[in-house]
Amino acid sequence: MRCELAARSRWFTGRFGSRSRLTSSFGFKEYQKMQQESCNSNKRGQPNYATDVRRLWTANTCLKIHFLGKTILWMKILCFPHNLMFNSLVRTYLTKAYPVLNGKLQPIHQHVFESNLQNSMIHSKRYLELMKRVQKGGGEKAILRHTQRNRKLLVRDRLRLLLDKGEILELSPFAGLGMPYGDIPAAGCLTGIGKVSGVWCVFIANDATVKGGTVYPVAVKKQLRAQDIAIQNRLPCIYLVDSGGAFLPLQADIFPDKNHGGRTFYNEAIMSATGIPQVAVVCGSCTAGGAYIPTMADETVMVDKIGTIFLAGPPLVKAATGEDSSPEDLGGATMHAKVSGCIDHFAATEEEAYKCARNIIATLNLELPPNMPTDFEEPLYAAEELNGLAPRDYAYTLDIKLVLSRLTDGSKFLEFKALFGTTLITGFAQIKGHLVGIVANNGELTHNASLKGSHFVQLCDQRNIPIIFLQNTRPNVTVTRTLSKAVAVTNQLKAQGSMIASVACATVPKITIVIGGCYGGESFAMCGRSFDPNFLFLWPNARIGLVSPNHCSEFLEIDGNIQDDAQLKTMKEMLEDETSAFHSTSRIWDDGVILPADTRTVIGQCLNIFKQEPRFHSHPERQVTLRI
Ligand code: COA
Repeated sequence: MRCELAARSRWFTGRFGSRSRLTSSFGFKEYQKMQQESCNSNKRGQPNYATDVRRLWTANTCLKIHFLGKTILWMKILCFPHNLMFNSLVRTYLTKAYPVLNGKLQPIHQHVFESNLQNSMIHSKRYLELMKRVQKGGGEKAILRHTQRNRKLLVRDRLRLLLDKGEILELSPFAGLGMPYGDIPAAGCLTGIGKVSGVWCVFIANDATVKGGTVYPVAVKKQLRAQDIAIQNRLPCIYLVDSGGAFLPLQADIFPDKNHGGRTFYNEAIMSATGIPQVAVVCGSCTAGGAYIPTMADETVMVDKIGTIFLAGPPLVKAATGEDSSPEDLGGATMHAKVSGCIDHFAATEEEAYKCARNIIATLNLELPPNMPTDFEEPLYAAEELNGLAPRDYAYTLDIKLVLSRLTDGSKFLEFKALFGTTLITGFAQIKGHLVGIVANNGELTHNASLKGSHFVQLCDQRNIPIIFLQNTRPNVTVTRTLSKAVAVTNQLKAQGSMIASVACATVPKITIVIGGCYGGESFAMCGRSFDPNFLFLWPNARIGLVSPNHCSEFLEIDGNIQDDAQLKTMKEMLEDETSAFHSTSRIWDDGVILPADTRTVIGQCLNIFKQEPRFHSHPERQVTLRI
């Protein structure tokens, strides 16, 4: 930032896009100056916004009054506070004037495009197969036991009753597949974000068809990640509890450590104390550890006959004391509603319980953000074509602007530093009507590209604009083989360090989409998992690893550890599997795999969710003890 101080101060005063120009102190003189500057910038080849702005400015800020034959301009903006809305109107209007990208595919792209397309079809097929598989939960036998014997609703039907009709953002649906301890569909619990009574809420819902809803190590991780999202985005949490507690054979990986099961309860307490509501619906067993979730929630609903809360069930009581007891007497809804006071609402049926939870959310005294934008333009190019732009390998990467033109509103993009560090593309756009900053790999993260990235991330942070990282980092790390190269490599490292620091310190919401490679150090600068993006999704073709399978022989060579062909082949196969998107997502190193064609929808949902954030009437200094 420092070295470009002079240039940037000019930039700030010369553009309309700068929010600082358009906020509270906006006046007529400034408007005239802006007009002048716009004309000047037009002479320098910049787009001319002046006519549009003048028309909009007059319409929104001035009231024309005819008095004694003269026209008086009455400054509405000074008289009516609601005209502060003007700022966002201008911003929306100006972004509509952003330059349109040329996203047309050229004959020269055809070979690579088709090869990528074939690869994407294979991955999409796998994606759909896995989706079908996880939707079956624990399998037919377990479903029959759950619905016929235990008379409970399936977890997806429960969510249908709880959530408003409309979009749901399910998180990590493929978590738990192919774990060393077996396949655990959806990690035995569904997590995601959906609207309840008009409010975006995180849901965490056990699937009792998967080993009685018991909690495996991967389920702990999934629940903690959902809570993290709730904390970072300040979203209420709703727990649908139906769980036999810890999966006992793996207790050493579930109980003792900081980020193990106990952390769920710690998070619940901290969230509640900082004004993030916690609501539980007991719709099955809450045994042992599971019993703490409803007892620590701000408000708990329990379903008669189906729900139980106890530290140990009837068999354990019999073994310990010799007494016979029924689950109902030991910890049923009637007992907890009338005697222990552990629950706040008794529900005769599951349907009644979800209605009750919806009513609880309606009492949160939450100021909802204004209606989300609906009058945005769609991209000019088909989203399905992203399948041919999803690189099957880093060498098959096409110009990132082809991807951008299929994601942004009207395929428009206002590029920043277009001629500098061109292997990273930065600029502003709208996605589903939301202004965003975009940082997208278009080759190696060189010295200049890193400085540019660092600068742009700081701009977005200063202007409170969410950042979208489109990550496709290169697998072949620069290696210093000669002294003469050492200086260049070190300078590149220093510049990358600057970008990494900017990304780490930016406080605006961040979304990372890995569209190709997520390799080595460059992935940190592109807001990889350890840099706390609010959401991180992968395209099915993505590769995540320190090195690419194709480059493992180079690394072994550098190590002086040359293997024979058979060993090299085994190593490559292992890397092929370990670096795949499906391997990553099953371990929750991300928030899910999304199909390229769904990217715009998913980003739009995340941006809508961010809008809800600061509107709780919370008083963190007044920490209320909600449970006695
Ligand atoms: N650890 C490991 N496996 C468990 C388990 C646990 N805590 N609780 C249940 N299971 C397994 C059962 O062995 C069964 O496995 P199977 O399908 O291979 O036969 C499966 O989960 C379903 O259990 P089942 O009892 O048949 O189903 P259900 O829906 O009628 O009852 C529970 C579910 C959870 C209410 C019941 O199994 C139970 O009370 N479990 C013990 C809970 C407990 O004491 N937990 C303490 C943990 S700290």
